[in-house]
Amino acid sequence: MPKPPPQATPSRFALLADLLDFTDDPGFASPHQAPGVRFRPNHWLLVDGGRIVGTQVSADLPDDSWARFEAPGSLVMPGFIDSHVHSPQLDVIASFGTELLDWLNTYTFPSETRYADPQWAIEGATRFLDALLAHGTTTAVVMPTVHKRAAEALFAQACQRNMRLITGKVLMDRHAPDGLRDDVTQAQKDCCELIERWHGTDRLSYAVTVRFAPTSTPEQLQMAGRLLQRYPGLYMHTHVAENRDEVRWAQELFPEARSYLDIYHRAGLLNERGVLAHGIWLDDEDRALLRDTGAQIAHSPSSNLFLGSGLFDWAAAERAGVRVSVASDVGGGTSLSLLRTLADAYKVQALQGTRLTAWKALYGVTLGAARNLGLDHEIGSLSEGRVADFALWDLAVGPVAARRLYVARDVHERVFAFLTLGDERNLVRTFVAGKCLYQR
Ligand code: GUN
Ligand code: ZN
Repeated sequence: MPKPPPQATPSRFALLADLLDFTDDPGFASPHQAPGVRFRPNHWLLVDGGRIVGTQVSADLPDDSWARFEAPGSLVMPGFIDSHVHSPQLDVIASFGTELLDWLNTYTFPSETRYADPQWAIEGATRFLDALLAHGTTTAVVMPTVHKRAAEALFAQACQRNMRLITGKVLMDRHAPDGLRDDVTQAQKDCCELIERWHGTDRLSYAVTVRFAPTSTPEQLQMAGRLLQRYPGLYMHTHVAENRDEVRWAQELFPEARSYLDIYHRAGLLNERGVLAHGIWLDDEDRALLRDTGAQIAHSPSSNLFLGSGLFDWAAAERAGVRVSVASDVGGGTSLSLLRTLADAYKVQALQGTRLTAWKALYGVTLGAARNLGLDHEIGSLSEGRVADFALWDLAVGPVAARRLYVARDVHERVFAFLTLGDERNLVRTFVAGKCLYQR
């Protein structure tokens, strides 16, 4: 039995396990020719003062100044990064029977109105962040609700956990029910207050968060663009081109724009800190615009399958120079597990003739996502100097997975089986800045 650290983690400790992370993008190359894969079996990971300070082979035993914990055969990976997820939507996950626009009106909007209540918002933020950690996710780009207090609660709870989190109050001033709309003046005031209080505090960053073009007036989009100008280093977070009816509606509302994506471009919202969920129904000009502005797509395969939205072509997007990360998009997505999400990504790509390796998949929720967010100096790998955000995983849970791993012939086969069969039940421990914040 492994003996991993207890809740009260010592500040200086060494953990023995198989270490897996990436030094570069493995791309869509075959598993055995993929660059950038760093698999270090049976190595010590050294953590001191919340940071990774080194790694060494098992025979090189850390001296007695290190608390030592051994988990032979288990896997340590960087904490996962969920590049698009909705904190209030644990309440609507797995809702039956609708496509995007109906799903929003039937389930999601009514449920989000509850977040006007500050106590509801605090409890929701707490539940959500603890759930992320219980799925091995240590960083996320999060959409709360339109309510300032909901964003505030999320920032405060993430701050308490010392998590690297990106979020911001949702902007929506039309086409939403009472209690779920703001207006330009109040929204601008709320955003400025939140930015000044939280952006750059500890490990928190603010994202100007336009829900999607149909729920903002042109004036509100302009205001969002001005915020990005006024405060350097903000992120921008929204949805684009997820569903065909949504695309049609967005074009009707903004007839002057060349495309749905162009609505955001015209408002000055696209840059290298832009995160746009989905991007299924984009054309070549849109892809060129993403490439030129540096904004990224948060590919959300579980959500795209569940809501029947369509199949995102990851390889084609990358061929066009678009940066892509992976996201759960709960509650359109049906699990916070990025393992399950990646298993869905494999199937979505397979339907389009591309084979997603375990390496490319896991890169997309670790170093790839960190690079796309400009955070690879801090998170996304097990390199020396990175903040010690990582998770310890059992490769197999249950007899079927155990058997599959037993007969696997090489490390890619093992990791691919883990990724395809695994979920949060495989998670043993999650560490944030060197502290164990989740244990099974
Ligand atoms: N587009 C606008 N809002 C949402 C949302 O909450 N979920 C998804 N999947 N798409 C959206
Ligand atoms: Zn979403």
